[in-house]
Amino acid sequence: MESTYFKRFRMDADLTAPRRPQPLPPGYRFVAWNEALLDVHARTKFRSFRSEIDALVFPCLGDLEGCRRLMREIRNKSGFLPVATWLVVRNDAGGDLEWCATIQGVVDKLGMGSIQNIGVVPGHRGCGLGTSLIEQAIAGFRGHGLRRVSLEVTADNSRAVRLYQRLGFRRAKTVYKVVEPSAEAPVYGASISSVGSRLAEPVCP
Ligand SMILES: CC(C)(COP(=O)(O)OP(=O)(O)OC[C@H]1O[C@@H](n2cnc3c(N)ncnc32)[C@H](O)[C@@H]1OP(=O)(O)O)[C@@H](O)C(=O)NCCC(=O)NCCS
Repeated sequence: MESTYFKRFRMDADLTAPRRPQPLPPGYRFVAWNEALLDVHARTKFRSFRSEIDALVFPCLGDLEGCRRLMREIRNKSGFLPVATWLVVRNDAGGDLEWCATIQGVVDKLGMGSIQNIGVVPGHRGCGLGTSLIEQAIAGFRGHGLRRVSLEVTADNSRAVRLYQRLGFRRAKTVYKVVEPSAEAPVYGASISSVGSRLAEPVCP
């Protein structure tokens, strides 16, 4: 089987210009990072990404154990930044906590802020959570004294690209992520080649 290439944009934004915090819609609230919430981030990430294109690009995002591993990796990075790492929660009709969205931030080796993954659980999208969560993480990066923030997004993820552009992110670079066919990805193994043939562009030699 052939490898698949996914086109991705590296986007960045200036943090020195004034910005307006975006309040959450009524009923939702932010929850700051603490160590006990690592698994909540992993589960919220899984529920946000499992049916999305990024679960093809990064198969670990389509798997709960993969999301747990990824969260531990992010947490253990030397630049992990708790003030740029947030959850969004609300109480459901029965009063139980409903975890709706997650974002994590790190400081990269060049001293630039880096958004790792932002995910909003289906059913809570299109009402401003993504916007508020990015502004909340950006406030954390700014408070930490950082001047720029970057992220990577799959080119075909037009909803996410639009969101980032609206919030001042601009395309800095195009990269390609190669996904090798894997016998360990039976859930998505069939779809990788079909989606890939539709979405991916070959890397020019
Ligand atoms: C991309 C993603 C994070 C966006 O989250 P979201 O909560 O839907 O984002 P928002 O609600 O802030 O913005 C989405 C749209 O809703 C609109 N919107 C925001 N608040 C609104 C409101 N109160 N009423 C109506 N529409 C609203 C926005 O204008 C925006 O429109 P656009 O798509 O034309 O730009 C979410 O779709 C997601 O989790 N996707 C899967 C995971 C993923 O791909 N993550 C990105 C990885 S790089």
